[in-house]
Amino acid sequence: MAVMNAAFDPGYGEAWNEAQTVSMLTLPGTWLSLASCDGTPAGFALVRQVADEAELLLLAVAPAHRRTGVALALIAHTRRLLRDRNGATLHLEVRYNNPAIELYKRAGFVQIGRRPGYYHGIDGQVHDALTLSCSV
Ligand SMILES: CC(C)(COP(=O)(O)OP(=O)(O)OC[C@H]1O[C@@H](n2cnc3c(N)ncnc32)[C@H](O)[C@@H]1OP(=O)(O)O)[C@@H](O)C(=O)NCCC(=O)NCCS
Repeated sequence: MAVMNAAFDPGYGEAWNEAQTVSMLTLPGTWLSLASCDGTPAGFALVRQVADEAELLLLAVAPAHRRTGVALALIAHTRRLLRDRNGATLHLEVRYNNPAIELYKRAGFVQIGRRPGYYHGIDGQVHDALTLSCSV
C-alpha cells in the first residue's frame, strides 16, 4: 500500500484502497508481483487471469525507483508467469493521457479500443481509457 499511495496521482483517484486490493486478491486467478530494491518495496503488478486471457489491473512504481526498468521487469515477469499458466493475451486499460502509455508501447502493447468517459477524476472530469493488448 505504501507503493500504491506514493505512485498514483491523487487527482485521478486511480489508486485502490487496502480493502479493494485485498478483496481482489481473494478472487481465483489473481496475484500480485512485488518488485523490491535493496529490500524495499519498489513496485508491483496486480494481475487477473481467466482462461487464456489476463488483465493487468494495476502497475505502479514508487517515484524514487522510476526510470530504472522496474515496470518493464514487472511486465516481463508477468508474461513469463502467464506463459507458464497457459495464458495467451494480456490486456489493460490506461487513461488516454497517462505517460505510462509510452511504457506499454515499449513493452509491445498495441491499442485495440477506446472507452469514452471510463475514468472519473476527483474534480468531476471524465477521461477516456485506451484498451491495450499484447500476446504473452
Ligand atoms: C508508469 C510507471 C509504472 C512506469 O514505471 P517505471 O519503473 O518508471 O518504468 P520503466 O523504468 O520500466 O520505464 C521503461 C521505459 O518506459 C518508458 N516510460 C516509463 N515511464 C515513462 C514516462 N513517465 N514518460 C514517458 N515514457 C516513460 C520509457 O521508454 C522508459 O525507458 P527510459 O527510462 O529508458 O526512457 C510509473 O511511472 C508509475 O507507477 N506511474 C503511476 C501509476 C500508473 O499510472 N500506472 C499505470 C497505469 S495502472
